[in-house]
Amino acid sequence: MKKFKRYLVTSALPYANGPIHIGHLAGVYVPSDIYSRYLRLRGEDVISICGSDEHGVPITLKARNEGVTPKEIVDRYHAVNKKAFEDFGIAFDIYSRTSNKIHYETASEFFLKLYNNGEFTEKTTEQYYDEEAGCFLADRYIMGTCPHCGNESAYGDQCERCGTSLSPSDLINPHSTVSGSKPVLRETLHWYLPLDRYEPWLRKWILEDHKEWKTNVYGQCKSWLDQGLQPRAVSRDLDWGVPVPVKNAEGKVLYVWFDAPIGYISATKELTPDWEKYWKDNETKMVHFIGKDNIVFHCIIFPVMLKAEGTYILPENVPANEFLNLENDKISTSRNWAVWLHEYLEDFPGKQDVLRYALCSSAPETKDNDFTWKEFQARNNNELVAILGNFVNRTLVLTNNYYDGNVPPVGKADPKDESVLKELPGLKENVENSLETFRFREALKEAMNVARLGNKYLADAEPWKVIKTDPERVKTIMNIALQITANITIILEPFLPFSMAKLRTWLNISRLDWNEAGKTNLLKTGHKINKPGLLFEKIEDDEIIRQVDKLMATKKTNESAAMILAPAKDSVSFDDFTKLDLRTATVLEAEKVPKTTKLLKLKIDTGIDVRTIVSGIAEYFEPESLIGKQISIVANLEPRKIKGIESKGMILMAEDKDGRLFIVAPEGKVNNGSIIK
Ligand code: MF3
Ligand code: ZN
Repeated sequence: MKKFKRYLVTSALPYANGPIHIGHLAGVYVPSDIYSRYLRLRGEDVISICGSDEHGVPITLKARNEGVTPKEIVDRYHAVNKKAFEDFGIAFDIYSRTSNKIHYETASEFFLKLYNNGEFTEKTTEQYYDEEAGCFLADRYIMGTCPHCGNESAYGDQCERCGTSLSPSDLINPHSTVSGSKPVLRETLHWYLPLDRYEPWLRKWILEDHKEWKTNVYGQCKSWLDQGLQPRAVSRDLDWGVPVPVKNAEGKVLYVWFDAPIGYISATKELTPDWEKYWKDNETKMVHFIGKDNIVFHCIIFPVMLKAEGTYILPENVPANEFLNLENDKISTSRNWAVWLHEYLEDFPGKQDVLRYALCSSAPETKDNDFTWKEFQARNNNELVAILGNFVNRTLVLTNNYYDGNVPPVGKADPKDESVLKELPGLKENVENSLETFRFREALKEAMNVARLGNKYLADAEPWKVIKTDPERVKTIMNIALQITANITIILEPFLPFSMAKLRTWLNISRLDWNEAGKTNLLKTGHKINKPGLLFEKIEDDEIIRQVDKLMATKKTNESAAMILAPAKDSVSFDDFTKLDLRTATVLEAEKVPKTTKLLKLKIDTGIDVRTIVSGIAEYFEPESLIGKQISIVANLEPRKIKGIESKGMILMAEDKDGRLFIVAPEGKVNNGSIIK
């Protein structure tokens, strides 16, 4: 493996349009913090870079909704998120922001260099324009129906239902999210990064030279490359962002995904005048921590930008995580389905490490994963309290009781002692190997094995019994337990920084270097330790029930907000009800009624006869998809002429809140003409 002189660790710059939640922490920031802390402990030259991503349509839209300026939005959430990271011990060396002057300069220079090198193509195309609002409609400013899945609320850049990435011209029935009006096409000039030119280079760099990347990352890159890359616009017609620094570009800014990753560079510049050694020296290992929705930007587009610029290094690895769900449902800011960091701290003050631990233990490393409060409680009670807390507490309390806090000398170690001590270097190595390969769940498990080892050792050696018969032997046992405890302060430091700081205070030691881990003489005989407190506390059922109830209340609120039900109708007599002839039937033929948009003409088999029904469902169903389907009908509705066609009866449909229609059908196959009662 190549040895690097220094490390540049970046974590995706979160949009400053909302607070961060456990999904962000588990996916990006806990892993990147563990990695950086580990490298720092090892004494490496490492900087950890993050900041707020303050451009992009989501921010301007939020500002518009709230009737404030984008600047007010980003100021608010930059402060909120910066504090949340600090509160959780996510130790960035800098938390910058892309509205800084230094960022504007860096991003403009970067663009200009590519521009002057002829790296861009210029193209005038027709794009949607909102005449009412007087602006072009890029990305999330435009909505319409997804051509792939029929979702009527797809955005101009992506359909959130099927995940397909879109451009505004793909949308069916586009409308402006600014004014709601139907947009018109207008010509506009933009700059494109011709990703296709870099395809052969990318294929080699990723598919051949970086086979070690995580399979989810490698796989996504391969599928992008196999589909063939297209030139990508790097400018937008917007008034919020870094202005395009060339002539004839009034009203145009850099595309947010062009400027944001350059934010890593500007943040490094802000951090240190010596920034170039981190960005322009092959002996620097750059690692991007991101979520899976950012893979293409960090593995394809940004690397092409860096390569085109020519003086920068490329990432060595991009350990992207999948998504974390919450109690079996997708985390969503708009539905308030999340655990917000500031709310967690109000409910569990001082328990940052518990959340860090729970999130790392079930981090969505290879597939989406679920966070549940029950599991959170179990991780705390069965692991942090029962294993780590228990071991440490026994060790420190007994040392205080038996020796007034002085580390006792080791006597003759017996084979059991020896084998325990021999395990330490191996455990340390396992943690290292897992961390170096970005397997954080495994690393944490291995690190906890040190506490497991200690816990088991004490339980087997039973010093509290032996003290009565062989006090000399107990000195050895306690010395070994103390050495294991000192090892724990090192090995668990990247994962549980708050708790390890406490533990060091109780042990009366300062932070030890990673390379000390595995040693068995970290605490000298006679060293005086302090009185301990409790490292972790049990979390009771009622605290968990409260959290689950809170989420259930959110669910209820969402459901009632989503569904404004029609008021109940007056009651009818049973006789009146039986007058309706409701039956099952099967669709034999279906076709659009010419010159209409909504009507389908259906030939159906009702069991009693074969007849025609005209139904206003053409916007929701492809005719072919209905053929052979079993349905329910009102068979004795008076015939009606619709567009000159006699329609005999009505098909039963359920209409949901968005006006979408669903066929009401028997659950299993039944004979046509069966009575519905
Ligand atoms: N703001 C983006 C997101 O939350 C991430 C930007 S990462 C950067 O998805 F590289 F562009 F900075
Ligand atoms: Zn879709």
